[in-house]
Amino acid sequence: MICLGIESTAHTFGIGIVDDKLPKEKKIIANVKDSVTTKTGGIIPAKAADHHVDVCDAVLRNALAKANLKLEDVDVIAYSQSPGIGHCLRIGAMFARIISLKYNKPLVGVNHCIAHLEIGRLVTEAKDPVLLYLSGANTQVIAYEGKKYRIFGETLDIGIGNFIDTFARELGLGFPGGPMVEKLAKAEVENNPKENKTPHYIELPYCVKGMDVNFGGILTNLKHKIKKMNEAREKAHHTPFTHETLCYSAQETVFAMMVEVAERALAHCDKKELLLGGGVACNKRLQEMCDKMCKARGAKMFVPANEFLIDNAAMIAWLGLLQYKAGDKLKIEDAGIKPYLRTDDIEVTWR
Ligand code: ATP
Ligand code: FE2
Repeated sequence: MICLGIESTAHTFGIGIVDDKLPKEKKIIANVKDSVTTKTGGIIPAKAADHHVDVCDAVLRNALAKANLKLEDVDVIAYSQSPGIGHCLRIGAMFARIISLKYNKPLVGVNHCIAHLEIGRLVTEAKDPVLLYLSGANTQVIAYEGKKYRIFGETLDIGIGNFIDTFARELGLGFPGGPMVEKLAKAEVENNPKENKTPHYIELPYCVKGMDVNFGGILTNLKHKIKKMNEAREKAHHTPFTHETLCYSAQETVFAMMVEVAERALAHCDKKELLLGGGVACNKRLQEMCDKMCKARGAKMFVPANEFLIDNAAMIAWLGLLQYKAGDKLKIEDAGIKPYLRTDDIEVTWR
């Protein structure tokens, strides 16, 4: 069976195609995307939707060419139905309905967060993991229990990626900020001539409440420090902080918070596998911290390749296929969007 998946929750419009006749490591036969990028500022919903309209046709052609297929060969169409930015989701849902009607193909609606977890189970050896899902808008710790993917911990305000991007913007580093912040934090460790290369850590608020986290207070604290640093620079005074020190301290703090919550979820669910997902999980320092925590408690960490960590459509196609095989199918009039649907609202029928 062949499933074509459409991803359009936020800045990425993607088409992925999977074929479940093929062996595990070959099932993904196309994973094409086109993402909105901005030099300054974040994404504007209406502009991102315009982008998706502009590129949808080319992305589809490209994906079909990669898979060497025609739309007639596809058995089922899946699209990201929840959660996400309404403007963006609507374009994917429309595109899915058009293909479904024109080629008479069944439709399946997919939850984007659960798709991150299911693609991880396909492309790694993880079987029943706790997912640490760290992206721009989403920060959740998710695990399967009692027929649902339950959220064991999450952010109470902004996503960790949005935190990193806003912090980076304050430092003048551009968007996306994650890779630049990672680079400067690494420089703090490797190039610090003081104290035998010991990186300089500046105390920041540590915001874990039970199983939840928040980033607003840390961001405000960092903004004050950046202001002080810039003022000192202007007066040619000695600056109390460098860019590198701030990046290092911010990363160490927020990653430690996430590792703490992930560890507690592993203990609570009595699970032995930690799976990473989301764009922030590309960060090597985060991976290193998670790996240490897992080794210390006899668990195993699994990290999909970057193309499956960041938003992608292969994961929508794969979860769509699992759902369709379990009997899930949408009527065309029900194939709308659910921007605010939560991971734990969904009954898991496919495992
Ligand atoms: P979602 O719609 O699931 O919330 P998203 O649209 O924000 O996801 P992703 O591609 O999952 O997109 O993640 C993008 C985020 O990942 C950005 O905030 C970016 O700064 C961050 N990021 C990318 N690389 C790194 C890195 N090496 N270190 C830290 N953060 C990173
Ligand atoms: Fe995502």
